Amino acid sequence: MRSTETTTISAPWPPDDRPVAVTRFNGLDIESDGPSCVAQDRVFPLFDDESLLLAAALDPAPDTSVLDVGTGSGILALAAAQRGATVLATDVNPRAIACARHNTDANGFANSIKILHADVYTGLDRGKLDLIVANPPFLPTPPELELLLTSGGGPYGTRIVSPLIADARAMLRDGGRFVCLAVSFGSPGSSVAQQLVESAFSDGDDVRVRDIYGSSISVDRLLDLYARWHSITSWRRMLADHGLTELHYVLIEASKATPLPAPRAVQLPPESTFAGSWDARFRRYEAWFSALDCTVWVPRSRGEADALPHYL
Ligand SMILES: C[S@@+](CC[C@H](N)C(=O)[O-])C[C@H]1O[C@@H](n2cnc3c(N)ncnc32)[C@H](O)[C@@H]1O
Repeated sequence: MRSTETTTISAPWPPDDRPVAVTRFNGLDIESDGPSCVAQDRVFPLFDDESLLLAAALDPAPDTSVLDVGTGSGILALAAAQRGATVLATDVNPRAIACARHNTDANGFANSIKILHADVYTGLDRGKLDLIVANPPFLPTPPELELLLTSGGGPYGTRIVSPLIADARAMLRDGGRFVCLAVSFGSPGSSVAQQLVESAFSDGDDVRVRDIYGSSISVDRLLDLYARWHSITSWRRMLADHGLTELHYVLIEASKATPLPAPRAVQLPPESTFAGSWDARFRRYEAWFSALDCTVWVPRSRGEADALPHYL
């Protein structure tokens, strides 16, 4: 794979001004910023129903070529490399690149993971990848809010998700797969994510958008939360005008020109894992993760986590 620009931007890792969080996952020790860090350039903390969920679910075949877009700490790249894949990991945040390089070296995967500074697919070769995986910034955010690089998805949550999906097919080789988490407006079957992925992939491709929590998140809950800090009147009106009242936390999967293989490329915990109170969910997460030899680290209070997705 041709390399994109070699970054000259650098940042120290470990940082000298912030505490480092260490998460043990599947025998890997992975450093990141801690859950209380809300700096614009934070390295994404490892949350159990996001980075860890996707990392545990990934199952690339050995000797395949994987791209991890927006690698952060490098968790998804490391999970793929552990399974024998060759990985290119990219990010636009120099702190994330430094952290991912540290984690890659410290866990003994420097030979199978290459980490580059790149904006989505800019500068990367097309048609060469077996798997693209991403946990991009997807949170719908008021237009006037300064975005956290890890999370801010713009008013519709599609700032990065949209270009990521639009060019995914061109980046894959035949039979290659695309796997991405997102928060999507709309109802299952006709969500924004579904429309984006259906228009980017072709008739002969296999496309699936799964609702991870199995239930919608009311847009009002999100708006009411933001309203504590910002004036969001115009954004509220804009969403209402488009009839966008529901959000879903989804896993987007698409494969180019061949049906998704069986067993499914991405194994999610049973749907029941996501139902019910946070306490009940937490116990089910623990059971699911313990089978995978992972330490579940729940970074915020369970009450908070139950109220809304954690990445706010
Ligand atoms: C939600 S974090 C996920 C980090 C990691 N993959 C994980 O699952 O823990 C999103 C990452 O995307 C990176 N990012 C944001 N905009 C990007 C862009 N335009 N191109 C590539 N990466 C980007 C952020 O710096 C951040 O590291």
